[in-house]
Amino acid sequence: MVDLKNVSQEILISREQLQDKVNELGKKITEDYKGEEVLLVGILRGSVPFMADLMRAIDLDITIDFMSVSSYGSSTKSSGVVRILKDLETPIEGKNVIIVEDIIDSGLTLDYIKGYLQGRHPKSLRICAILDKPSRRKVQIRADYVGFEVEDKFIVGYGLDFDQHYRNLPYISWLKEQ
Ligand code: IMP
Ligand code: MG
Repeated sequence: MVDLKNVSQEILISREQLQDKVNELGKKITEDYKGEEVLLVGILRGSVPFMADLMRAIDLDITIDFMSVSSYGSSTKSSGVVRILKDLETPIEGKNVIIVEDIIDSGLTLDYIKGYLQGRHPKSLRICAILDKPSRRKVQIRADYVGFEVEDKFIVGYGLDFDQHYRNLPYISWLKEQ
């Protein structure tokens, strides 16, 4: 059983709210890229549930790939260090690329990934994040597609973890002080 003793009982974003929003984002992407092919690049591991839902909400010729970067250790604070642990397997030159991420917090991770991928000359490069914590931004970066803005709390569920746990919660809640 999931051990929820450190997790608030307050559900910030429900399963239904997430589903509705993902469908809305999928529809928007489908309209924006009509007639085009799109490569979705999921950032492991937090994007997994969002990626799985989003790709099925997009009615286009899509392919998917994943990258893994490290920016956080087991702590709830950003280290500011971004390291590539797994790179793309797909060449992206001349392709429409959408980076799929769980949350933009300080923005350091996405800022780095965006610059890194831009260097490979995609046809277009956008960001889609299910969550956004604008109050914590350290670099100027915004997602082209955003699900929900959240306040400055450490949240878990729908891919977001604390020390690798709680990613499987189907809703978003927040972590109580330990
Ligand atoms: P950034 O580089 O500070 O924008 O951090 C992005 C990454 O930090 C996300 O992909 C998450 O993995 C992690 N992260 C940021 N905020 C939270 C949170 O509230 N809960 C869980 N993980 C978070
Ligand atoms: Mg992450």
